[in-house]
Amino acid sequence: MANRKIFADLDQLSKEVGQTIVDLINQANRMGKPFSIALSGGSTPRRLYQCLAQPPLVNHVPWGGVYIFFGDERAVSPDDALSNYLMAKTTLFDHLPIPSGNTFRIMGELADHKDAAEQYQHTMLDILPREEGIPVFDLMLLGIGGDGHIASLFPGTPILEETEKFVRAVYVSKLHAWRLSITYPVINHAKHVFILAAGTDKAEIVHDVLGDMTNNHIYPVQRIQPKGELMWYLDSAAASKLVD
Ligand code: 6PG
Repeated sequence: MANRKIFADLDQLSKEVGQTIVDLINQANRMGKPFSIALSGGSTPRRLYQCLAQPPLVNHVPWGGVYIFFGDERAVSPDDALSNYLMAKTTLFDHLPIPSGNTFRIMGELADHKDAAEQYQHTMLDILPREEGIPVFDLMLLGIGGDGHIASLFPGTPILEETEKFVRAVYVSKLHAWRLSITYPVINHAKHVFILAAGTDKAEIVHDVLGDMTNNHIYPVQRIQPKGELMWYLDSAAASKLVD
């Protein structure tokens, strides 16, 4: 059974995940190692980022040893309201004593989406340690959509079959939009993968993925099988259809 932790509400969930992240960063720091995180976009992690950017958590992190990437990005400029980077900047980066050289955004504004993906792949390979040639994140933060997508790995899109590239551009027809996303090889090589889900609108997908063993439909999230830790962080609303 996939590991899961259930909290009363998003605020409690966010505080717990924030403390867990701080503990992981300090554990790496004690070993003299940097710590790399790939942030999730969407709305669920906003509260988590706010928790990390304010006392007490913000004061307990050696931010100079933290490298922050993104799991995916919309094909928009960094000042667009849809930008995952803008959300992280306003809730997290603008409030952290983190060197600007420690945050790495995906250049969603480039007209050549393939080029943007290749540039980000090069950056990941420059900064991150590798295992079997694959860049290794210490922590991947992911949200989940009602269709079981994570990052920008949407059902029925070619990026689901990508095994060579670490970042790809993908046209998501249901959104009528281009996205740029990290691929399964990288996600599944992360040391820790946290999937955050909150709210009643996630109860159905959480049930289908975690609570219904008879369900043989495979959602993109179910192909997340990391060599490291996989932990689901749920609030009670998102977990409301799970029966233990
Ligand atoms: C994005 C995210 C995406 C998100 C889910 C859940 O760019 O939107 O990477 O995968 O995590 O769609 O979004 P919410 O947190 O807004 O429900």
